[in-house]
Amino acid sequence: MSSTHFGFKTVDERDKAQHVRGVFDSVAAKYDVMNDLMSMGLHRVWKAYTTQVAKLKPGDQVLDIAGGTGDLSMAFAQKVGPTGRVVHTDINEAMLSTGRNRLLDQGLALPTLVCDAEQLPFPDDHFNLVSVAFGLRNMTHKDVALKEMCRVLKPGGKLLVLEFSKVAKPLEKAYDWYSFKVLPQLGKLVAGDADSYRYLAESIRMHPGQEDLKTLMKSAGFGHVDFHNLSAGVVALHMGIKC
Ligand SMILES: C[S@@+](CC[C@H](N)C(=O)[O-])C[C@H]1O[C@@H](n2cnc3c(N)ncnc32)[C@H](O)[C@@H]1O
Repeated sequence: MSSTHFGFKTVDERDKAQHVRGVFDSVAAKYDVMNDLMSMGLHRVWKAYTTQVAKLKPGDQVLDIAGGTGDLSMAFAQKVGPTGRVVHTDINEAMLSTGRNRLLDQGLALPTLVCDAEQLPFPDDHFNLVSVAFGLRNMTHKDVALKEMCRVLKPGGKLLVLEFSKVAKPLEKAYDWYSFKVLPQLGKLVAGDADSYRYLAESIRMHPGQEDLKTLMKSAGFGHVDFHNLSAGVVALHMGIKC
């Protein structure tokens, strides 16, 4: 039996996905409003930057992994136009259906699929761009998921990983106070769930920092990997090119 972490807890690795599912089942309905509140709207700026770096063209094929309520899928669909395709995927049905309803309200009927990033149901060398925003942190075997992302990309294709990362040292104390004191209270008040937001703060601390994630992406097969820190490293955008 192998164990892994779920936030600061140690769990059997066969159970982690179930624990993560519990978190997102619980928060799906309030996910968007909580995102705006917790980040004071900054997640919109991080995602807008990701969309710029994606440099999509009309006709491109895109896979949005852990797409949740669909922010990136929506932005990408506008870039690839009617000749391109954005596949909106997530392992969690509650998150995916909340996202699908939002996309339909915007007049966007994208292919939507429940799938696990560790076993992608797509052929090799298929997509121009694969994205995963705030999802990799929750995956049990990040190495396996990153290899799958590399496999489904066309040679020359790009992976974008937008994720919480290691904040700059001078901000650490304030960030810890905000994460461990304010976030769970906010979660309790708005979503009626303090534990899921405590998990959020803990899972960020357990996630590989900027350089470690770069190394993981290289080991998964990406020939060129780089990252940009956003908001003093609260978040980093990693880019991997399949060579
Ligand atoms: C914090 S949400 C991010 C949603 C969206 N990408 C965004 O940026 O707003 C994380 C998402 O990762 C999904 N997720 C967790 N493990 C996954 C896996 N193994 N495969 C695919 N999605 C997964 C969760 O279901 C959840 O919807």
